[in-house]
Amino acid sequence: MSEIFRIAIDGPSGAGKSTIAKAVAKRLGIDYIDTGAMYRAIGYKANLCGVSAEDADGLQAMLDTTDIDFVQGNILLDGENVNDKIRTPEVSMLASKYSAIPEVREKLVEIQRGMGSRKSVIMDGRDIGTNVLKDAEYKIYLNASAEERATRRFKELQEKGQNQSYEAVLEDIKQRDYNDMNRPLNPLKKADDALEIDSTGMSIDDVIQAVIDCVNK
Ligand code: DC
Repeated sequence: MSEIFRIAIDGPSGAGKSTIAKAVAKRLGIDYIDTGAMYRAIGYKANLCGVSAEDADGLQAMLDTTDIDFVQGNILLDGENVNDKIRTPEVSMLASKYSAIPEVREKLVEIQRGMGSRKSVIMDGRDIGTNVLKDAEYKIYLNASAEERATRRFKELQEKGQNQSYEAVLEDIKQRDYNDMNRPLNPLKKADDALEIDSTGMSIDDVIQAVIDCVNK
């Protein structure tokens, strides 16, 4: 194994990427970078500042003065920890919308490449294996049926006390899948050299082990 190695995990919303990536990072003693959180932070800020997705100049001005960083697993937006604020269904949809904008992707991909160039990392998202870390040593495409992903998300939201029906959650997942897979720029798709793991019906531990096995091979 080379000194520095990168693991790219891509897949649709709710496939369990962040849970798996966090656990694998801990087991291997490497950093975890949640690129979805970065798109969420931008969607959150744009909405807060009233910058519409159609306002390219306004967005560029906002991006030029936006700072995003991770400190001890927390995402900092302009120095503020926004971890909890960006995990709502509204921000999920905003992230999906704003992530289709070229200026947004350009800025975040640049930051992500910088983060992946200095140390061993596991990075999850939609375009990590196909674009951000095209030369990553290990690539995983983590998938699960839309119904299984909706069931998991529904339970998570219930535990947080957020009231959304299962049908609404499933509809959201399908809408985000469509957005993420059909945008012109770096859409979600499995890299040709990625190992696909379908986690439908698999336990979290089994998926973690499958990723570790891929790295240890
Ligand atoms: O992984 P997530 O659900 O937190 O991601 C939120 C949104 O951000 C998702 O709908 C698509 C977008 N995203 C992206 O376009 N590229 C990435 N590398 C990560 C996320």
